[in-house]
Amino acid sequence: MALQGALMWICSLAVLFSCAAPDETLQCGYNSLTSNLKGAVECEDSLLLSWSSEERAGLLLNLRNLTNKLNSLQLSECQNAEPKKCPQAEVLTDGGLLCVTVSNKRYCKPMCNHGYDFSFLRRSRLYEECSEQTGFKWQSQFIGGNKLAVCHKAHIQVSGGASAYFSKDQDCLTTKSNSSLIESAIMGGFMSELRSAGVQGEAENSCLLCG
Ligand SMILES: *[C@@H]1O[C@H](CO)[C@@H](O)[C@H](O)[C@H]1NC(C)=O
Ligand SMILES: *[C@@H]1O[C@H](CO)[C@@H](O)[C@H](O)[C@H]1NC(C)=O
Repeated sequence: MALQGALMWICSLAVLFSCAAPDETLQCGYNSLTSNLKGAVECEDSLLLSWSSEERAGLLLNLRNLTNKLNSLQLSECQNAEPKKCPQAEVLTDGGLLCVTVSNKRYCKPMCNHGYDFSFLRRSRLYEECSEQTGFKWQSQFIGGNKLAVCHKAHIQVSGGASAYFSKDQDCLTTKSNSSLIESAIMGGFMSELRSAGVQGEAENSCLLCG
């Protein structure tokens, strides 16, 4: 009886521990999820077709949910940027938004992925500003909102400056997933554009958001 009691106690302790310390390495661990996903992407079509149509739809549903979740969490990357009175500008679908604070002014540069173009001509308008001088509002072609620009499907890309487009094999997410690409290709270029417009000061709170 005593032994049984002790065993039960050990078991409930084990259950307790597995709850208190959920298996994060398996469920929410980045490395295992990434390698499983990469592995699945490389599976032969015939293998993927061996799953039932319900299984494939269920997987798509989970992926869509995860995508939505990651996209909404993405916004926290630009949180607390100075000046705090500036609202976060909307992220462009099929493109990205590159933002930086210099001398307490927030600058955001809308960019489109390859195969997309801006709906308004903005060749000489590389970025938008939000600062005390603008009344902590975004100066934008879309008056009175936080939408800075829109990317729509296009065969040729003519409406924006050359640096406002991600290259064909380096779209926003590809760029963002590679820190050296962000620094060299994207952020460095943006900073020299700001410098040549006379913007002086250190770059702070920089972030790239992909839509
Ligand atoms: C996915 O999201 C939908 C609605 O957005 C929800 O009904 C469903 O339960 C979610 N599925 C999972 C597996 O989280
Ligand atoms: C990041 O980009 C650089 C420059 O294109 C490339 O050489 C490097 O292999 C990339 N790194 C990863 C992890 O993809």
